[in-house]
Amino acid sequence: MAAAAALLAGCRDAQSALAPAADQAAWVFSLLGLMLWIGGAMYVLVLAFLAWAIWRARRPLAAETGTRGSQRGLSISLGVWAGIITMGLTVLSLASFVVDRRVALAGARDAVQVRVTGHQWWWRIQYRQPGGGWVETANELHLPAGRVTHVELGSSDVIHSFWVPNVAGKMDVVPGRINVLDLTPRKPGWYRGQCAEFCGLQHAHMALDVKVEPASDFNAWLAGQAQGAGPSVDPAAVRGKQIVTQGACAACHAVRGSAATGRVGPDLTHIASRRSIAAGLAPFSRGALQGWIAQPNALKPGTMMPAVPLSGADADAVSLYLTSLR
Ligand code: CUA
Repeated sequence: MAAAAALLAGCRDAQSALAPAADQAAWVFSLLGLMLWIGGAMYVLVLAFLAWAIWRARRPLAAETGTRGSQRGLSISLGVWAGIITMGLTVLSLASFVVDRRVALAGARDAVQVRVTGHQWWWRIQYRQPGGGWVETANELHLPAGRVTHVELGSSDVIHSFWVPNVAGKMDVVPGRINVLDLTPRKPGWYRGQCAEFCGLQHAHMALDVKVEPASDFNAWLAGQAQGAGPSVDPAAVRGKQIVTQGACAACHAVRGSAATGRVGPDLTHIASRRSIAAGLAPFSRGALQGWIAQPNALKPGTMMPAVPLSGADADAVSLYLTSLR
C-alpha cells in the first residue's frame, strides 16, 4: 500500500484515466469504480470466510462432523455464496455492456469531423472545415468543450493505439482500416495523449498534446489554422523561408501558401503555434527546434527525419523562420 501510494503520487492529472475530462472517460471511470467496489467486496468476503474456516478448524472435529444439521448449513452457505458470485458477475457484465454501448453511440449530427493518422512516430491531424475541405496540422489536437468530435483513426505504416486517458479509452490505429471514436470533452485544459501500442524504436516519443477549449476559442483556432503562412519581413526569416520552402525540407514538409508541399512529414504552416516539437519530444522553442533540425537522430534515434547539413547562419535563419510560423 505504501509503495502504491508513493508511485501513484507521481501520476499527474494531464495524462490520467483517474481525472476524466470528457463523457467517455467519465463512463469508463465509473465502470472502474464499480468493478473495484464489487471486486473489493468479494475479496473481503473470501478472506473473512478463510479466517472463519481456519478458526473453525482449530476446534475439535468430533463435535460437528457428520451431523445432519451441519451438512444442511454447508449446503445453504454454498448456495448463498454461488448466488452472490452470480449476482456480482451479472452486474459487472451488464455494466460493461452498457458503458461499451454508450461509448460507441455518442455520435451527433453536428459533430466536429477529425481524421487522425498514425505515423512512425507522429500524428497527422486533419479537420473538416464547415465549408468543406480539410485543414491539416500535427501532434496537437484541439477539441471544443461540450461538443461531440468524431475521430476517424487510420495508420500509414504499423499498428499504433490512440490514447488520451483523460478523454477516452484506447483505440487501436490499424493500417488498411478506419476505426472511429467519438469524444465529448467537458473540462477545458491541456491533456497528454500517448501512442499505446508498441510501434518501433520511438514508440515512447509518439505523444500528442490535446487542448480542450470553449467552442468560440476552438472556432478561432481552427480559422487561424486554415490560413496559409503569413509573409516574412525580417531578412533572416526571408532567407530561412527560402531554405525551408525551396530546399530539402520541402521534399517532406508543407508550408501552405508557399512552394513547400511535401506530404511525408508534419505540416509546418503553423508549427510555432504548437506546444511541443517532434510529437511531444520537447517544449516548443527556437533552441529546441534548432537542435532537432541539426541532429534529429541524436534526439530521437530511428526518426525518419534526416539531418540536413546547414551552416550556422542558415540554421539560425531556418529556426527564425519556423518560429515566425504562428
Ligand atoms: Cu505509435 Cu506506439
